[in-house]
Amino acid sequence: SRLVVLASGNGSNFQAIIDACETGRLDAEIVLLVVNRPDAYALERAASHGIPSRLIDHKTYADREAFDAAMAEAIDEARPDWIIMAGFMRILTDGFVEHFRGKLINIHPSLLPKYPGMNTHARALEAGDLKHGATVHFVTPTVDAGPPIVQGRLEILDNDDVESLKQRIHGVEHRIYPLAIDWLVKGKIDFDGAATQTSPAVV
Ligand code: GRF
Repeated sequence: SRLVVLASGNGSNFQAIIDACETGRLDAEIVLLVVNRPDAYALERAASHGIPSRLIDHKTYADREAFDAAMAEAIDEARPDWIIMAGFMRILTDGFVEHFRGKLINIHPSLLPKYPGMNTHARALEAGDLKHGATVHFVTPTVDAGPPIVQGRLEILDNDDVESLKQRIHGVEHRIYPLAIDWLVKGKIDFDGAATQTSPAVV
């Protein structure tokens, strides 16, 4: 399968997917990385693994529509089977999301439907939750609300703070993202399957 990865920052999830492809754990090839920020460290990860990358800087486009049109064109050129959002920090237009319906995947650091949006670790701590986690899901126009594929969970410890939780959640993410992509690549789950299951797989 051909993967296009979208990232804005560090790209540790991107790295986990690179590693899974390189070790053969994932039968897939990352054909393109697209970033929207020139300082995204993900660019360096791509370079050191020989993965083609493109910078599409949102600041150089007049509006969201123009930015999304440039993104869609670059992605379409790469002919991906799956488009993987890995810390991509821009809200995409409905038109973009519909164009890639059923192929666009995201990872979110909470047990969705809990805590869509930002600051998920602080919100879980404030609520006194006993469990926290991360969710891989299909992207639909409503942010962080598309059909979930898999969730990874962990227990919140008494002495956890935002930083410690964030770090452990990253560990969960690096485990579940390659797993979810493996299921997609092998046809074990698709958009309709995810949309009709009553709750996502928990690993
Ligand atoms: C992850 O926590 C992901 O869930 C969220 O953004 C973060 C990206 O981290 N969407 P990284 O850039 O992959 O390290």
